[in-house]
Amino acid sequence: MAITYCREKEQFRLDSAHTSYLIGVTQEGYVGHIYYGERVNCFGGEDAFRLDEVPGPGKRKREKCAFLASFPFEYPTAGVGDFRDSCLDVENEAGQRGCELFYDSYKIETGKPLLPGLPATFAGDEEEDVQTLYLILKDPVLKLKVTLLYSVFEKEDAITRSAVIENEGTQRLMLHRAASACLDMDNRAFETVTLEGAWARERHPQRGRLLRGRSEFSSIRGVSSPQLNPFLALVTPETTQRAGEVYAMNFVYSGNFAAVADLSMYGSVRMTMGIHPWQFAWNLCAGESFTAPEVVMVYSGEGLGKMTRSFHSLYRKHLIRSPYKDKDRPVLINNWEGTYFDFDTEKLIAIAKAAKEVGVEMFVMDDGWFGKRNNDDCGLGDWYVNEEKLVGGLTRLGQAIHDLGMKFGIWIEPEMVSPDSDLFRAHPDWAIQIPGREPTLARHQLVLDITRKEVRDAVCDMIRSAFNTTKIDYVKWDMNRYLCDIGSAAGGPEYQGELLHRYVLALYEMQERLITDFPDILFENCSSGGARFDPGMLYFSPQIWTSDDTDAIERLHIQEGTALVYPMETMGAHVSKCPNEQVGRMVPIETRANVALAGTFGYELDMTRLPEEEKKKIPGQIARYHRFHGLVAGGDYYRLNSWCEEEPWDCWENVSEDRAQALITYVQVLGRPNTGSRLVRAEGLDPYAVYHLTILKDGEETEMKQEFPGSALMHFGLRIPALGDFQSVLYYLEKTREEEP
Ligand code: DGJ
Repeated sequence: MAITYCREKEQFRLDSAHTSYLIGVTQEGYVGHIYYGERVNCFGGEDAFRLDEVPGPGKRKREKCAFLASFPFEYPTAGVGDFRDSCLDVENEAGQRGCELFYDSYKIETGKPLLPGLPATFAGDEEEDVQTLYLILKDPVLKLKVTLLYSVFEKEDAITRSAVIENEGTQRLMLHRAASACLDMDNRAFETVTLEGAWARERHPQRGRLLRGRSEFSSIRGVSSPQLNPFLALVTPETTQRAGEVYAMNFVYSGNFAAVADLSMYGSVRMTMGIHPWQFAWNLCAGESFTAPEVVMVYSGEGLGKMTRSFHSLYRKHLIRSPYKDKDRPVLINNWEGTYFDFDTEKLIAIAKAAKEVGVEMFVMDDGWFGKRNNDDCGLGDWYVNEEKLVGGLTRLGQAIHDLGMKFGIWIEPEMVSPDSDLFRAHPDWAIQIPGREPTLARHQLVLDITRKEVRDAVCDMIRSAFNTTKIDYVKWDMNRYLCDIGSAAGGPEYQGELLHRYVLALYEMQERLITDFPDILFENCSSGGARFDPGMLYFSPQIWTSDDTDAIERLHIQEGTALVYPMETMGAHVSKCPNEQVGRMVPIETRANVALAGTFGYELDMTRLPEEEKKKIPGQIARYHRFHGLVAGGDYYRLNSWCEEEPWDCWENVSEDRAQALITYVQVLGRPNTGSRLVRAEGLDPYAVYHLTILKDGEETEMKQEFPGSALMHFGLRIPALGDFQSVLYYLEKTREEEP
């Protein structure tokens, strides 16, 4: 049993393979947090709770205000005396804001419920591996019922959380905040780990000391954002990849979010995650309910590496639904960096042909095929083919690509409209904007009010008709601006505070329609590069474009940060031309490919213009992708080194589940004069196995005669010679036999 209840102590224990989470109920009915960490096989004792009451009288006659200031609530509420960050902030009909929740009842079930309209992890085939605790709390004054959902994924050491808030009274209530999860713990000199960035610099790992007060890591851009990913971990100071304690949360949501760590005056830390309260005001009429999106919590007592592997295996088995998730994806060529808007049918076919000759398997036509879109200041919303550019339409192009024996993919940006478009001229009120105020353009475009069904229907219909003219094998769904001027013509004042969340729900509904209408399509999400790389999007697409920065060296940090949480095969990673479009760097094609092999592999260049010397290397790279992708996509990931000024080399390892194979990728970022070789210690191998080593460098394979015991590789290490700037090597290990223990 993953979840047990101790009636005598009024405590709940949620056990996964290596962790336990304890919740208790006080005599007054407050629901509080007792413990989260390494697995324990007992419930909490008398002193389980932090009931310090500083200052204040003894146990039974609590000074309520002092009690509320320090009690570790499972789902804290705002307005009645707990001044720390809260999860729930409710306004009554009279305009007053206060809420207090007391324990009512519980239910434990095998499996896991779906969250209506929201992406969420699911139990999968082995239902019994997941159990869900429903804790029911009530506010008797507001007649509000809150159900806290905790699902325990035993094997993956993960707990998911959500909350359903129901108005059981007769008055209309307003939710100003409805967060999804809270973790209230004693401070242990915690540090925060977050993924920060910007366009073309997404998800760089960032670590900092947690200071007193409320630290917020958030997005109010309408998307989960490149500036901060919806991920927050609190780690003890000694934490490394291999050791130390980690408490992590990741939000299964693609819009505004707030991840907060609030270090209180008493030295307790409250960590919360949920929809950002900014511009959020949700009406909860009598009888209605609101579901807060899911948060995934992972605890690791063995450093960040173990946390990563928990997220990866949870998302692989219980979040990504695509039929492609366990398949090698076709190696693609995308024309964006090769041509931008400057193409016609002949040019695209020529690129596809040249790519086919070197073994590329799919051609993807990016932005610019529809309406009058010859640059980025017009055409969005006009989802019919530009026949001047693409003579013969999608039918002819699609046919030509398929005749080459390649798959055919296409780019769309369905959430947007250009003011210079037929769609906008016909329906100017379909854009999100505040009447009377000039809406702010970004990339010359506006955001469609997809919360309106007629807007969703019109866009989906146009796209469906375009797709029905030829066989589409792949779709890249892009989204190239943030949301502002939050105003909708769809409803009155009460609608406006709901718009941002309704937008995300509408986006999910549109993506669900696409994958239902075209179940065979391989679907890739994208947002100005990687602005919406989050678990919500992974529920719909098995891969996401990681960044518009395709420089292999820049990609090292981006991919390291992304892979800290998200499975490697979900990262779209392409080899592009040199000098690189974003930073002008010249990196050998070998290293460009080795870095892209860490994700879902492809090319993004004009193959007709690639130097012959480089072209010759492509068949070997494609063969390597197919040879090793199973290891990357299904194996365990270990981060062996992260490059910085002092250590200008980067290294990671993928180990198959049965530990019979491993691939170590080593990239020398900058060479150093007069330095020797270095030992790199492998991880996750079988210590009693003997491995055969193949070294892959510059397209050459060298099979080493010597055999390498797993324990030696993990403890002595693998000796790697000094390399020059931007050089890289792959080390492939294959188990040959077992040794006597
Ligand atoms: C942003 C994407 O990240 C790029 O890959 C490309 O598709 C452009 N948009 C096209 O406008």
